[in-house]
Amino acid sequence: MVGKILRTAATVPEQIISNDDLAKTVQTSDQWITERTGIKTRHIAQTESVVSLATKAAKKALGPMDPLAIDMIIVSSVTSDALMPSAAAEIQKNLGAYNATGFDINAACSGFIYAYTLVQAHMSAGWCENALIIGAETLSHFVDWQDRETCILFGDGAGASLMTSVPGTPYVPFTRSFGQLGDALTCNPIYPNAPDKGNHTVLMDGRNVFKFAVKEVSNAIHSLLETNNTPIESVDLFILHQANLRIIQSIARRLKVDPQKFPTNLEKYGNTSSASIPLLIAELEQSGRLKKGQKVVLAGFGAGLTIGACLLDW
Ligand code: ACO
Repeated sequence: MVGKILRTAATVPEQIISNDDLAKTVQTSDQWITERTGIKTRHIAQTESVVSLATKAAKKALGPMDPLAIDMIIVSSVTSDALMPSAAAEIQKNLGAYNATGFDINAACSGFIYAYTLVQAHMSAGWCENALIIGAETLSHFVDWQDRETCILFGDGAGASLMTSVPGTPYVPFTRSFGQLGDALTCNPIYPNAPDKGNHTVLMDGRNVFKFAVKEVSNAIHSLLETNNTPIESVDLFILHQANLRIIQSIARRLKVDPQKFPTNLEKYGNTSSASIPLLIAELEQSGRLKKGQKVVLAGFGAGLTIGACLLDW
């Protein structure tokens, strides 16, 4: 059996903050942010939370399916509303999906791909028929709005995909973690004895994360395609984590693939961490750019550091 994505949906908070808005509070400019990142605006949660955004996206992705038919809910988030209960358990309650097993995972911006591979493993083993995988974040709550090196990058949102099990064999995914590089991207909101005494905002070594992403995402895509005997030319779309336009363009160059095959929406939403891939998938499906039968690569990188890539037939 193989897990197929049946329906996708996304939701973002109402409030939009532009680069010009940010330039009023930190020393930056629309020109700098656009040239270095590609980002123009981001959506920021005011009243919305990870659970409320994720519930909204999950309800839309569920569509007419009976919530009681869902047997697994996996939420990827590094900014969940509470340590306990999990966001997945809250969403289960909100949906009335009382037959599901629900839990959260933390693999930052690769998290949606990790959720996808977990569901694939369960479906190919015959342990699960219908699942919701969700990436949801409110990174704005953990950003130092006085730090121009990070506050310009992030935004909030949620994306959900409904997966169902059909006859077939899944492609082998590529996932790897690089714990030895974890200091490059951190946030320690809760532990009083954390090494940086509980600094609760995102700290990032931007240049090194940039280099890591370009090198390791390219390597991951090569490995993924080689393992699955798939020539790179046969891939129709590369849906990458939306962190920075220059990272995506550099990966396209390194892979020698037409950058037109790398759609983006980071211009509107900034980096929404684990929500970025499902948000983009939902938009591409809605606009008709993602078509039945296309071969698609999903690839992400993030805190951990983590890498994930998977191949699917849409
Ligand atoms: N506005 C104006 N100037 C700025 C800003 C800003 N917002 N931020 C930094 N600068 C300055 C720096 O201080 C530096 O000045 P200096 O030369 O006088 O020292 C100069 O601009 C260049 O800084 P760099 O850090 O070299 O700029 P770079 O081109 O590397 O861009 C950026 C920085 C955008 C953060 C880039 O490194 C990047 O995108 N890195 C990856 C970030 C990322 O993807 N993070 C998340 C991944 S994982 C996850 O999604 C959770």
